[in-house]
Amino acid sequence: MNTTTTSSTGRTTPSGDYPVLNHPPARPPLIGDHAERTRTFTWDEARGWLAAEPGERLNIAYQAVQRQVDAGRGSAVAVRFLDRTAPRTELTYAELADAAAGFAAVLTGLGVGPGDRVCTLLPRSPELFVAALGTLWNGSVYCPLFPAFGPGPVRQRLDLGHVRLLVTDRASYERKVAEARDDLPHLSAVVVLEDDAPPGTVSWRDAQTRAEGLPRPPVAETGPEDPALLHFTSGTTGRPKGAVHVHEAVVAHHATARMVLDLHEDDVYWCTADPGWVTGTSYGIIGPLTCGVTVVTDAADFDARRWYSVLQDEQVTVFYTAPTALRMLMRSGADLARAHDLSRLRHVVSVGEPLNPEAVMWGTEAFGRPIHDTWWQTETGAIMISNVPGMPVRPGSMGRPVPGVEVAVLARGDDGRALVRDGEVQRCGPDEVGELALRPGWPSMFRAYLDQPERYAAAFSGGWYLSGDLARVDADGYVWFVGRADDVIKSAGHLIGPFEVESTLMEHPSVSEVGVIGKPDPLAGEIVKAFVTLAPGVEPSEALRRELIVFGRHRLGSVAPREIAFDPHLPHTRSGKVMRRLLKARELGLPEGDTSTVEETP
Ligand code: WT7
Repeated sequence: MNTTTTSSTGRTTPSGDYPVLNHPPARPPLIGDHAERTRTFTWDEARGWLAAEPGERLNIAYQAVQRQVDAGRGSAVAVRFLDRTAPRTELTYAELADAAAGFAAVLTGLGVGPGDRVCTLLPRSPELFVAALGTLWNGSVYCPLFPAFGPGPVRQRLDLGHVRLLVTDRASYERKVAEARDDLPHLSAVVVLEDDAPPGTVSWRDAQTRAEGLPRPPVAETGPEDPALLHFTSGTTGRPKGAVHVHEAVVAHHATARMVLDLHEDDVYWCTADPGWVTGTSYGIIGPLTCGVTVVTDAADFDARRWYSVLQDEQVTVFYTAPTALRMLMRSGADLARAHDLSRLRHVVSVGEPLNPEAVMWGTEAFGRPIHDTWWQTETGAIMISNVPGMPVRPGSMGRPVPGVEVAVLARGDDGRALVRDGEVQRCGPDEVGELALRPGWPSMFRAYLDQPERYAAAFSGGWYLSGDLARVDADGYVWFVGRADDVIKSAGHLIGPFEVESTLMEHPSVSEVGVIGKPDPLAGEIVKAFVTLAPGVEPSEALRRELIVFGRHRLGSVAPREIAFDPHLPHTRSGKVMRRLLKARELGLPEGDTSTVEETP
């Protein structure tokens, strides 16, 4: 166990008493020196790190799998699949490329062409990787859905995305999709993993058999600006937003997988994020495969003992995970970590929610090295701010902008969002809190919110992309997360739109109005809490409360509220909207702030 070199520069970080951590990297980092690299880096240079494709073409699947085959690394293991119940299996780069091409042939056979959208609603399995890469190979647009979503979120996303083909398992299809099939006119085909496909679907095996006679299709002739990925994300109001990414995003996936995750060809890399979210596609599939590593993926849910065994037995060298998971590992004690041989583990990286400095410090005990935080969003497509290897870590800070990314903190107006007057923004000074903004132009920047051009336009102002996060930057350029500028909830790393939860609960006949907030939680960061006003004549009771919890869980799945409180007097704005911010302030026992726009219901 390496317990070395926790050295302080003598400077206290603005967040308090944590020392600056200066652990030497266990291997010379690919990025080299962060400051030096930032000075010289261009995205054009990063384009040159990818394999050349004919003409102006660029295709993510080519870069992720075929590239390795062409480079003579076809027999290297691309993905190792672990499962609690099934034996461990592997796919080499050559096998994965073949299977992806095979799936592209299946798509053609089913009439799904370039630009058409394909969804997966699958556990972490070989079929998920094959469907994702095969979709991109075909020039179609890949849209992952989180398997723990309930029927409501699944149907809404299939509908909004005009999804042509869904790949799922029998149980998910029957419970979440079948009934709504008539309301999904765009969904022309459904492939299920099992051989006994229910009516209206085709089995994976049959679909493959049908495509067998067809020639292996070449990689689609996509250009850098052709749409490749569609990721739904949650906002404060209205329906989920479909962030559209193009094939050029792979330039940023690859560059950050190299410069931030430090992925060398011989690495064994485990990303614990589900591919149903952007982290699980950008860094569970695409980024690492473009680096030629072996990706480990585990279908099982969190279990501290199992996770340490995976790290040990698979000889994982780079581990990308989330603060909630790290806090759960912390709860099981550093001794459990030290009871395992983690000597191969070289780099531990985190994303998705605030990484508390205690967790960074704990990393030095459990893993012998600090945990490196990274910040980004569905919209940014790739890591934008991070503690890269070799750069001193300030516990509690997300790190510095990655090379090629320009960050600003913008002064805020009364509504808490960046203030723009006549197209001009005002930048905050060191340590002043404002809205975190990025200069547009990085390759994985989202190109649209599907069918919502005005919402997309509203995300940019005065020459900046506005992130919706509040942050400050210290005098040395380290970025510190402060909070969200909106009401979006972050639970266990997943974004949850309060509106989606509110509208679902409102469908219950006993409910007249709902306000939903994120309630701080020591493990998950936040949990979803709903304040419910009951319909006239309905009396609150414990039985009804439980009924509403079950109702929510059944329809929404993982985004359902964990707590429900009855409140006959929800606070409203003068325009009649429920004031979530005030509900939250009350929940936290905080001052209620400016309530001049509030109107209490009688
Ligand atoms: C939001 C984006 C990050 C990709 C997967 C989630 C929060 C993200 C951090 C961090 C504090 C973080 C922000 C951001 N977030 N990383 N290191 N520290 N907060 O993407 O679901 O679009 O969520 O996650 O609030 O805006 P997402």
